[in-house]
Amino acid sequence: MSLRRTLVLGAVGVVGACSLLMGPTSAFADPGGSSSGAPVGTHTDSLRDLGANVGLRVGTAVNPTELSSSTYSSLIANQFSVVTPENEMKWQVVEPTQGQYNWGPADKLVAFAQAHHELVRGHTLLWQNQLPTWLTDGVDNGTISNDQLRALLKKHIQDEVSHFRGKIWQWDVVNEAFTNPWDPEWNGAPAPGHFWVDHLGAGILADAFRWAHEADPQALLFYNDYAIEDVNAKSTAVLNWAEQLRAEGVPIDGVGFQTHLDTQYGVPTDFTQDMQRFAAAGLKVAITEADVRTFTEPSSVNTPTDPNAVAVQNAAWKQSIDTCLAVRSCISFTAWGVSDDQSWVPSTFSSPQEGAALLYDSNLNPKPEYFVVQHELATTNAAHRTGVGAGRS
Ligand code: G3I
Repeated sequence: MSLRRTLVLGAVGVVGACSLLMGPTSAFADPGGSSSGAPVGTHTDSLRDLGANVGLRVGTAVNPTELSSSTYSSLIANQFSVVTPENEMKWQVVEPTQGQYNWGPADKLVAFAQAHHELVRGHTLLWQNQLPTWLTDGVDNGTISNDQLRALLKKHIQDEVSHFRGKIWQWDVVNEAFTNPWDPEWNGAPAPGHFWVDHLGAGILADAFRWAHEADPQALLFYNDYAIEDVNAKSTAVLNWAEQLRAEGVPIDGVGFQTHLDTQYGVPTDFTQDMQRFAAAGLKVAITEADVRTFTEPSSVNTPTDPNAVAVQNAAWKQSIDTCLAVRSCISFTAWGVSDDQSWVPSTFSSPQEGAALLYDSNLNPKPEYFVVQHELATTNAAHRTGVGAGRS
């Protein structure tokens, strides 16, 4: 038996998902409640309504171009109470030519969110990926010095946060600044090998939070990363670093757990314990980019090769939403996209092929994983989160 089959068959805590569809609930006055129109598909209890019962915002990454599809846009409006632009607030998109801003796609999503009483997670201000070529070329050819690079970053952060001032609930200020314990350069701290830290020193990360806070004092400011969904060397390093920043008075409010899971690695075993220690340190927490990929057919990238894979996927989604519900400081739960065909997974993990990572299939029909999340929200006795959406206190 192959390793991957062993892992798939070894899952525990599998939920009989398809039988969990619940009857209608009452309407909620909470702004997280449903906005307008009938729910899409066969499901009648929206994730946003159920999340609102415990004050939890339930969200998704959105591609604003897709909002022109009425099926997609009604699903976003009905099912979710917080949205994240998947790419449209990244530096490469907002300033493709130096000095010429392209706010249009992100503005469109922010307007949509406001019209449907949804909050917005801003993503992301300081990252080493999806930088404009004018910037990376300038650094490579020496026409942008480190002093100039620092000034450009400050301007980028302050211009972008100012543009959206008052409209962003949580900003992912810094994204993925740590390497991984399995990388040769791992040293338990931001960098080496990180574009911004290599050029400007680790203090640039604290400055990013300070600059964002100056530009919008009400926005919640997050650090966001992956592979921290267990008590492990990386999550411990991130926690220690975040605590150190807070001790120094840096305005960091929370940590985002991306939660890109994969059935070949099984379900995180101590995710709740891990997230709880961040909360105990006074940090807000959020699940920011949830998906659960699995091996799929090369010719049909969202058809699992192993029919038992969905059981592991269900268990992983259950673990993720249960963790967020169990930790009262967990204020939002966001999936990284709506349907399998729009996910980043198939193009990124193509050898061997992986996919089928999200809650909806390519026809925007809810998958068993959707009903698992819905059931956990419908049956939870989690403590109500208070003040969610109020910004910094
Ligand atoms: O928009 C261009 C298009 O004009 C061009 O023709 C096409 C050709 O490849 O590329 C398009 O840009 C792509 C962009 O997504 C929009 O679709 C980029 O190539 C592609 O690299 C980019 O991928 C994004 C990826 O971040 C980049 O690193 C994914 O959509 C996005 O889901 C993914 O999101 C990241 C989070 O920001 C941070 N955490 C990890 C997560 C997954 O990688």
